[in-house]
Amino acid sequence: MTEAVDTPSIPCGADGNPAWWTGIIYQIYPRSFADSNSNGIGDLTGITGQLNYLSGTLGIDAIWISPFFPSPMADFGYDVSDYVDVDPMFGSLSDFDDLIAEAHRLDLRVIIDWVPNHSSDQHAWFKESRSTRDNPKRDWYVWRDPAPDGGPPNNWLSIFGGIAWEFDDTTGQFYLHTFLKEQPELNWRNPEVETAMLDTLRFWLDRGVDGFRVDVAHYLMKDPAFRDNPINPSPRPVGKDRHDYDTQLHVYDNAHTDIHTVHRRIRSVIDDYGDRFSIGEIHEPDWDAWASYYGDDLDQLHMPYNFSLLWVPWTAEGFRSQIVAQEAALPTGAWPNHVFGNHDESRLATRFGTDRVRAAAVLLLTLRGTPTIYYGDELGLVDGVIGPGNEQDPWGKLYPDLNRDVCRTPMQWTPDPGMGFTNSTSRSWLPYATSDTSVETQIGDPNSTLSLYRTIIELRRVHTELALGAITMLTDNPANVLSYARTLEGAVSYVAINFTDSVQRFVFPCVVDQILTTHAHRETSFSEVTLAADEAIVVKPVRW
Ligand code: GLC
Repeated sequence: MTEAVDTPSIPCGADGNPAWWTGIIYQIYPRSFADSNSNGIGDLTGITGQLNYLSGTLGIDAIWISPFFPSPMADFGYDVSDYVDVDPMFGSLSDFDDLIAEAHRLDLRVIIDWVPNHSSDQHAWFKESRSTRDNPKRDWYVWRDPAPDGGPPNNWLSIFGGIAWEFDDTTGQFYLHTFLKEQPELNWRNPEVETAMLDTLRFWLDRGVDGFRVDVAHYLMKDPAFRDNPINPSPRPVGKDRHDYDTQLHVYDNAHTDIHTVHRRIRSVIDDYGDRFSIGEIHEPDWDAWASYYGDDLDQLHMPYNFSLLWVPWTAEGFRSQIVAQEAALPTGAWPNHVFGNHDESRLATRFGTDRVRAAAVLLLTLRGTPTIYYGDELGLVDGVIGPGNEQDPWGKLYPDLNRDVCRTPMQWTPDPGMGFTNSTSRSWLPYATSDTSVETQIGDPNSTLSLYRTIIELRRVHTELALGAITMLTDNPANVLSYARTLEGAVSYVAINFTDSVQRFVFPCVVDQILTTHAHRETSFSEVTLAADEAIVVKPVRW
């Protein structure tokens, strides 16, 4: 009947209780969350003003704020020109201190983005580095002589299109940039760079941040010999969803084994501060390679982000196999995580389909592991529509089908003009995804997506096995229903999710009471149930 997939193990904080980062993380894209000064762009004071919503109304445990550091905004803040300040567009260090103080007063943890792989080309370090070949900061970035034919030093490609090398006329060498040419790669093999970057962590830790989301955490170490990447023998066709980056196997331009030494050093700085945390953006389809970023002794990242459920086809088997694979790959004692959306991906309501938003909410919040909710997904927001030529995202300007503006549209707080994001006369930096929904319209409606999120989050508090328990797949039911048990210290909850658009019969292992459904309420105890299309339910054995 059941397929064991897990040895329960819950990470603990210094007080012996489950670590705070086993709770729910909520990602905020600061340009798009709340605009306190009516310039159409969100800011830190705007976020502070909504912390009550996050903590009280929604009930999440931690926020992750995407970059708010000084930046020319070539990649909307992922091009940092000063790692230890706040861009005036978002406020000031004092606004950040206020945000942290208010968050902590509300018992919310604050995770910030750390972008160690590359800085902006406008960072003082890079300006020095590119000034002359013998500048003391020359080796802080990755400079190479041209190939004998005068071309780039090797065949590495930029994720944002074209070659990953930019020729610098002043000094006659190329510098490496995995993303835009405005995002030169820092040289993590230079100990001075490591020291300077670890100091930027300390700066924010001293200011009270609880953790970091580490941008492209697998890219910090490349092949020291700069060998050419091999050609990908079976690239996806260039076009709709893949571009020239996919024409190579990326074996030499990232994830050199020395990466693990770097992550151990990063972790040791974070551990010096007690119950702090790190989660890395790791795009690594091989589960063992992915899991290696925890470190065998759990001495690297607290977690690498698990992106496997983002693009899995909406089938019970598709999800089941990824969930089981993650559990199997985890080093002993490691804690899993799940993410259904972020600032780089089409919204879950668009990707999975609007009919599946409710089932996806139950799934995300009842799987074993830390869930990250992307702002606005609790309203079921869909991708925005950005007219041709109006793209803001540098990637979208190059490849309109990959435009990330669609998932970065402003949060919708009220039905008013400005949607409570900005004032009624200001123009938001991106259009709203829709005009027909908002926190205010959903909050009083017991059938809204927001109400469903609130209910599940509350259930996780009442029935702690849903948050912290072991997970066991139930396997002898219809293949198109995904079902699992969550168990903790004798308590059990069962979850069943119908992945089809037709009704499905489902049998639980015992007589159960329903504690949540995405569809119509059921009164009586039952063991057999007819699930509506796209329905998800959570039940407990009677007399629990
Ligand atoms: C990460 C970020 C993405 C950014 C890129 C370059 O993938 O999530 O938004 O464009 O790094 O920093």
